[in-house]
Amino acid sequence: MSSTSLNRRDFARLFAYGGSAALMAHPAIASLRPRPLSAADLGPAPDWERVRDQFLMPRDLAVLNAANLCPTPQPTIRSVTDHTERMDRAPVPTLRRQMTGVKETTRTLLGEYLRVPGDDILVTRNTSESNNFVSNGLDLGPGDEVLIYAENHPSNNRAWKAKGERFGYTVVEVEPVNPHPGPDYYLEAFARAITPRTRVLSFTHLTNTMGDLFPARELCALARERGILSMVDGAQSFGLLDVDLSEIRPDFYSGSGHKWPCGPKEVGVLYVSPAAQEQFHASIYSAYTGQSGLSRTHEGMGQRDEPAIQGFGDQLRFLQEIGRAEIEARSRELASALIEGLQSIDGTTLWTSPDPNLRVAVVSFQPGNLEPGRVLAALEEDGVVAATRGGERPGIRFSPHYYNTMADIDRAVSSIGRYMRTGL
Ligand SMILES: Cc1ncc(COP(=O)(O)O)c(C=O)c1O
Repeated sequence: MSSTSLNRRDFARLFAYGGSAALMAHPAIASLRPRPLSAADLGPAPDWERVRDQFLMPRDLAVLNAANLCPTPQPTIRSVTDHTERMDRAPVPTLRRQMTGVKETTRTLLGEYLRVPGDDILVTRNTSESNNFVSNGLDLGPGDEVLIYAENHPSNNRAWKAKGERFGYTVVEVEPVNPHPGPDYYLEAFARAITPRTRVLSFTHLTNTMGDLFPARELCALARERGILSMVDGAQSFGLLDVDLSEIRPDFYSGSGHKWPCGPKEVGVLYVSPAAQEQFHASIYSAYTGQSGLSRTHEGMGQRDEPAIQGFGDQLRFLQEIGRAEIEARSRELASALIEGLQSIDGTTLWTSPDPNLRVAVVSFQPGNLEPGRVLAALEEDGVVAATRGGERPGIRFSPHYYNTMADIDRAVSSIGRYMRTGL
């Protein structure tokens, strides 16, 4: 079938996006569609081996770097590829209009996933963009203070500081303590640092540095009590933790689809509470706004990669079918095994707390005196993907996720054990 033989009804059928209607496409196209992983495939409890089979990495590559960028499972890769092909095969106005509608489906799915109304969700490109939308979008000036956690990502802290210099407000930092001193410590530290001038409290739900879990609900409640806006950087919690924003009640929550959710690249989210929307300006004005809620005024970002946004929605369905709580529990189980393994190796210093109340699945440690860059290279040769950390607490960061197996954990631990015994 060539694209020129398609009539308008065929087009409409091919691009009948939004849920299972898309599966009713022309048979030639329908056969190209990936068969999404369904709950029935997984059985009552997730079969993690079968989940692992949905990913392209060879079995002898242990990818323990979810905090940086996650692999995307095959059904979602195929969805993005198929939609890209279809758009380019028939880039006619009717189809373009239908394609722009996929943002609304993904917005609804994001709202369901994070347990807030889709009307309060913006579909962005990544956490960096979401964070900068916040620091760009508030009227702050001389006399105002923004309170941050000192180990927030640069898209958070560098942005606040640069804009503070430009617009005349002050940035106040709460310093990290290692090992994690517990949620009460940070609650008290932030409470003490709040002054009558504080307008925003910005912290990271789960830090990308030491993997410290912050008491998000309590910190947001503290901010609310003091009449301050709360901003939660969720880059390391979205897709890993079973996040319930209706319980955490932040004013802003940001995340990336290409990290723990395992979605396509360059898709992200920003949640904005109804109260904060009243004082939040758009950063970008252009055509192709969203069609519901805040997106009508704050998501006019010009042409977008609609197949990726469609794939983001497909990937959220994939995660929902496995189960948010199941994914969190599995990642925690793998991280606990990893921590136990690392603790058994003499000379290894864990920067991340072994206490599951204080961490999730971002694990940073120092393997004795071994140079982190050389450890990273050796790990790659051994089929283990990790990240290095510099600064005051240098070393290696492993971040396992639900697609990993216990064999991956064993491979990583035994490699570190060998380097520590015999050197590099
Ligand atoms: C806590 C945190 N915030 C923001 C970001 C930026 O994410 P992205 O590069 O997807 O914009 C990262 C990336 O590692 C991060 O760890």
